[in-house]
Amino acid sequence: MPVFFLRTPAREYAALVSRGTISRIHEFVPPSAGKIFAVTTDDVWQLHGAAFSAGTGGRPFHVIRFAGGEQRKRLVSVETMAEEMIASGADRSSLVIAFGGGIVTDLAGFLAAVFMRGVPLIQIPTTLLAQVDAGIGGKTGANLVSGKNLIGSFHQPLAVLIDPDMIATLPEREYRAGLFEVVKYGVIASEPLFRLLSAHRDAVLARDPQVVEQIISESVRIKCEVVSADEKESGLRRILNFGHTVGHAIEAETTYSRLLHGEAVAVGMKAATLLARNIGLLGAPDCREILDTTARYSDFPSVADLSPQNLLARLARDKKSVQGTVHFVLPRRIGEVEVLAGLPGDAILESIKAALA
Ligand SMILES: NC(=O)c1ccc[n+]([C@@H]2O[C@H](COP(=O)([O-])OP(=O)(O)OC[C@H]3O[C@@H](n4cnc5c(N)ncnc54)[C@H](O)[C@@H]3O)[C@@H](O)[C@H]2O)c1
Ligand SMILES: [Zn+2]
Repeated sequence: MPVFFLRTPAREYAALVSRGTISRIHEFVPPSAGKIFAVTTDDVWQLHGAAFSAGTGGRPFHVIRFAGGEQRKRLVSVETMAEEMIASGADRSSLVIAFGGGIVTDLAGFLAAVFMRGVPLIQIPTTLLAQVDAGIGGKTGANLVSGKNLIGSFHQPLAVLIDPDMIATLPEREYRAGLFEVVKYGVIASEPLFRLLSAHRDAVLARDPQVVEQIISESVRIKCEVVSADEKESGLRRILNFGHTVGHAIEAETTYSRLLHGEAVAVGMKAATLLARNIGLLGAPDCREILDTTARYSDFPSVADLSPQNLLARLARDKKSVQGTVHFVLPRRIGEVEVLAGLPGDAILESIKAALA
């Protein structure tokens, strides 16, 4: 069974990727743990609550149901959950288990980070996006009215349990959106993963269980390696932002209502790939392959009406730009990227224009 290790200054822990791993929750609950609080949403609980319960091996736990949705990923929800924990007898020995998509893993992670100044956490991500990204690495947080993920904290879990079987029930659009993050891992660090996605589109889209496990494992391996090398995104972790510079601008420009995150990243990867080609960093064959593979998984609303100038203006305001300098993660070839700043505005604009078309 693939087990990957995260080595961060705060903690060393494992991310397990295995079908049926949800049956092993009890193995990761420390003997010293007090009351267990599972944070989840109604849909996930209805579909997978029984498997979760079986996995705890009969140990009692309290379920905190969160209504879900980006508009509820707010500090007030954390406060409500913390009150519910207190009302149910929580103390500093309590354990939080996040069981859901990225919104749940971020918010429940934040809850665990601040409840009584921090209690232990287990992450059980259930969407493809959360299994390959949000659930791993210790970033937790909530949205402000002024912007997404503007408050938060690093809080590393005791373990991340990733069960690829959970993906079978994911709505099609959510699955495809998660796949773009997998394409991202292929481009930034794994040519074999990229080839698997380009050669086996039908099996990937049919969610062949073995293929799903394979693409998740390889993505998790990369995420764990990158986070272990750079927990707080001062260097290497930035490569995970391939496609996200323009992606974030598109999400903000459409007020997070038209595209899912992964879909905006798909357009952003297209822009970054074209930009890399434009400035002569990337050869024509690799450029074509990245664009083709991304297009083959694309099935989402058009963004052709967006103004490239508005998007360009948003780039400098992005949280990830450092003192107004926009950083781009650009492919050199499939499996290798470079982080570049200070690129010419007209080349960026041209690439955005072409990506939106
Ligand atoms: N912390 C990080 O490093 C990090 C990285 C990437 C994204 N994120 C955050 O992740 C969030 C997005 O996460 P998401 O895309 O998982 O969205 P989400 O959490 O909203 O989940 C999408 C939908 O799928 C449902 N769902 C979850 N698992 C399911 C399953 N197995 N079967 C059926 N339905 C299921 C959810 O209830 C929800 O309705 C964003 O808020 C983003 O900021 C965080
Ligand atoms: Zn992302």
